Amino acid sequence: MNEPLLEFLRVTKEFRETAEPVVLFRDLDFALQSGHSVSLMGESGTGKSTFLQLAAGLDTPSSGAVLLGGREISSLPEKDLNELRAQGVGLVFQFHFLLKEFSVLENVLLPAWLAGTPRVKATKRALELLEQVGLSARQGHFPAQLSGGEKQRAALARALINDPPLVLADEPTGNLDERNAALVQDLLLRLVVDHHKTLLLVTHDKVFAGRTDLSYRLTAGKLERS
Ligand SMILES: Nc1ncnc2c1ncn2[C@@H]1O[C@H](COP(=O)(O)OP(=O)(O)O)[C@@H](O)[C@H]1O
Ligand SMILES: [Mg+2]
Repeated sequence: MNEPLLEFLRVTKEFRETAEPVVLFRDLDFALQSGHSVSLMGESGTGKSTFLQLAAGLDTPSSGAVLLGGREISSLPEKDLNELRAQGVGLVFQFHFLLKEFSVLENVLLPAWLAGTPRVKATKRALELLEQVGLSARQGHFPAQLSGGEKQRAALARALINDPPLVLADEPTGNLDERNAALVQDLLLRLVVDHHKTLLLVTHDKVFAGRTDLSYRLTAGKLERS
């Protein structure tokens, strides 16, 4: 088997600064192979979002190591860590976090500008992505002029603008009606099948979770296949 794209090695995450220490997981092992999709379910408060934050290098383990492409995230120099966050992972949340002063196209372009991608190249890619998510006709609109489903699809295009190999999605359909949830589901799953991305998905939707290659449940700090 190839080296996993994402690997947790004996990862412990706890909060000790609180009145009652919170232990989310202890010595947790996890591996995600490149080109696979994995879903993570579990009760609220079990640490699913924290798990994704650790995978994105936005949080650090209390002990153990998180490896992305075989490199330990927490040992990376600041410059590499920023590059990893900007280009190595695409994040989609339940809430879209689009900037309201910017058009849909500008929102999608922001991470490319931050990464220093030449403007013409970035714009071409942004327009392709907007087409893929069915928002070509909305590129000049502002977030307030979009429905919830459209905003989430714009956020998905933004997450993909720098072409990250790993896509992390935290309850991406949690706020959507059935039709838009189905659209976002299909878009995310198609990334893996058609574009060789790797997907780690947190969802409460059993049907959605059932469409990934592997499903896990996080219960009392343990990952179980489900
Ligand atoms: N900085 C912190 N200090 C103490 N507890 C925290 C901190 N951050 C998160 N937690 C706790 O960790 C638990 C898991 O949070 P989270 O990862 O958001 O769970 P989930 O996404 O599964 O609902 C929650 O009970 C939350 O209160
Ligand atoms: Mg959460």
